Amino acid sequence: MFANYIYVYIYICVCQLFLLMEMGKNEEALVVCSDRSTGVGITIWDMKTGEQLLHIPTCAAAPHGLLCLRNQFLVASQSNRHGSFGGGSIFIWPLNKPQSPLRSYTMEAIGPLSCTKDGLYIAGGASSGNAYLWEVANGRLLRTWHAHNKSLKCMVFSDDDSLLICGSTDGIICVWSLISLLDVEDSGSSPPLLHYSSEHRSSITGLVTMSAGARSIFVSSSLDGTCKVWDLISGRLLQTHVYPTSITAITHHPVEQLLFSGSVDGKIFVNMLDIGLVEDPLVTTEDQAFELKGHNGSITALTFSGFGLISASEDFTFCLWDTINRVVIRRFNHKKGAVTNMVVINQSALFSMSNHRRVPNQFRVSLLQKYPQPSNSGKGMVPFLSLSACLNKQTATNFQGNNLLHHLIFDSEREKTPAMMQMKMEKSIDDRMLVTSMTKHVMEMNKHLQSRLLDMMQCRLLCPHETDSPPKKKRQTPD
Ligand SMILES: *[C@@H]1O[C@H](CO)[C@@H](O)[C@H](O)[C@H]1NC(C)=O
Ligand SMILES: *[C@@H]1O[C@H](CO)[C@@H](O)[C@H](O)[C@H]1NC(C)=O
Ligand SMILES: *[C@@H]1O[C@H](CO)[C@@H](O)[C@H](O)[C@H]1NC(C)=O
Repeated sequence: MFANYIYVYIYICVCQLFLLMEMGKNEEALVVCSDRSTGVGITIWDMKTGEQLLHIPTCAAAPHGLLCLRNQFLVASQSNRHGSFGGGSIFIWPLNKPQSPLRSYTMEAIGPLSCTKDGLYIAGGASSGNAYLWEVANGRLLRTWHAHNKSLKCMVFSDDDSLLICGSTDGIICVWSLISLLDVEDSGSSPPLLHYSSEHRSSITGLVTMSAGARSIFVSSSLDGTCKVWDLISGRLLQTHVYPTSITAITHHPVEQLLFSGSVDGKIFVNMLDIGLVEDPLVTTEDQAFELKGHNGSITALTFSGFGLISASEDFTFCLWDTINRVVIRRFNHKKGAVTNMVVINQSALFSMSNHRRVPNQFRVSLLQKYPQPSNSGKGMVPFLSLSACLNKQTATNFQGNNLLHHLIFDSEREKTPAMMQMKMEKSIDDRMLVTSMTKHVMEMNKHLQSRLLDMMQCRLLCPHETDSPPKKKRQTPD
């Protein structure tokens, strides 16, 4: 009898789960947030019905500071946090469990964020011009470097994740290869730049990457009233589109080569990007572009969903467009503040991994570390640590535990509780143990090398004629 009830209960649960999954299939949702105040938070809207699906409190993200990681997590850099002395924070919400975000603290406030498509790395930029690169799974801060001289405004990874493109308020665009950023051997120095451009006369406001035929390109928009089209591989400027006013946001059609440029007066210009074999370095677009008029304030964000173009503006509304007929299909009010970020997600993400189920191969995220790890900062240490065969297991685990501790300490730096002091003590003891065991290891290697050297010298003394012979021969001489 009782067992029957359980079966029925489980059956109903499964049915519900199935229904939710069916509902969420192929349906898109729009995630929006503002930078006005942390109280505004994040809202997720159903694009089809216009209903609000979810509200996440406590978030204020700077433009380009919100992203969706692997369709499983929302990540947002926080533009104003109380009580963090000049430092910043990045929040990560699991989409299926948004009430418990991971709160990571950073050395300085982070503005723009970008993640690789595979979700392995997150890059962030600060107003100092410093850039940061984290490994998502273990939270390691792999590299910090002085990327730009002025405040970073946009960062995007290329579609194949191989390049990172950054733009700053002084109109400079820099491109790095991810490989060079991951090169731990020279994490102390500045990574080599792949491309550098100072063509724009004012702040970069948007960067998008796309492919045009066989070519990979990226487009940059700027307050100088132009959009520039670049070859991603060579870094060459292919086209310049000139508009009557400052361009504040851009996006592109996922299939057709259409560029949408939002301007400071609320208009959205639509251009065909005709990237042919013949390069036309200057394109004045007034005659080719058509305009979408529906906003009273500056365009703050543009994105594309399966339902069409979505635009957000300082007039506190965001709109879904029918770009063929040039009319607004649906207007949303966001009275709490102008929308600075919009991200389209799959509704299935909100349901598919329902709270009751654990998906075995769920993607892992960790707290993002505030400081680079010792294994990265000490140049000479890296090769030693990679000689894991020489190091005994004990040392390796010590080291791992150490990282974790490090992490905890920096995260709760502000609270100097006795427990924290205790942890700090323990950490310094661990540090010393690690150093001692490393020293022992180095001394052993030294001894080994010395005896080898002695052997070789002896060999040379015994067989003086063989000094010029190749090493192969030397080995054949009997001891
Ligand atoms: C949304 O998820 C469904 C099923 O998980 C998938 O088939 C579909 O391609 C996804 N859509 C987008 C836009 O990612
Ligand atoms: C930063 O300034 C230095 C010195 O003026 C200059 O050499 C360098 O190219 C600048 N870097 C960027 C990314 O603008
Ligand atoms: C734009 O301004 C006009 C006139 O002031 C007003 O009638 C209209 O409702 C406004 N539109 C929006 C989207 O705020």
